[in-house]
Amino acid sequence: MNILLINGPNLNLLGRRETDLYGDTTLIELESNLQLMAKSHGCMLECLQSNAEHHLIDAIHNATTDNIKAIIINPAAYTHTSIAIRDALLGVNIPFYEVHISDIYSREKFRHFSYLSDIAEKVFCGLGIKGYEEALLEAISKYKGI
Ligand code: DQA
Repeated sequence: MNILLINGPNLNLLGRRETDLYGDTTLIELESNLQLMAKSHGCMLECLQSNAEHHLIDAIHNATTDNIKAIIINPAAYTHTSIAIRDALLGVNIPFYEVHISDIYSREKFRHFSYLSDIAEKVFCGLGIKGYEEALLEAISKYKGI
């Protein structure tokens, strides 16, 4: 079973960026830990990070040809702005989990709204990087074998 992990803008700075909010694990560490976890469950995790909205959209479109069964996405700031990413996820009709490292609801008001939450399988918010692990385990238990 293949799962796709998508991280949006500025998440390439994980481990260095606002560590009080986002912690000190780097993106490479995060991705390789999740890939190991997926492998131990007999699954393949493809990882992509981009600062460009159209790359994220292209990755969502390509997921249909890569036989991806579920998507885990932290759209970062695009969460609060991108109807295009919402439309891409609706367009491919692949179940997805939305992850936010920080608790967006206890931060600035402009972060309280997500264009994705109402169509996500589930939202993992404010759990630090553990949110990605929980999303991965949930995707594996729900979609493995389908
Ligand atoms: C974030 C929250 C967003 O508001 C912010 O723009 C990010 C990261 C999070 O993981 O907590 O870049 O998605």
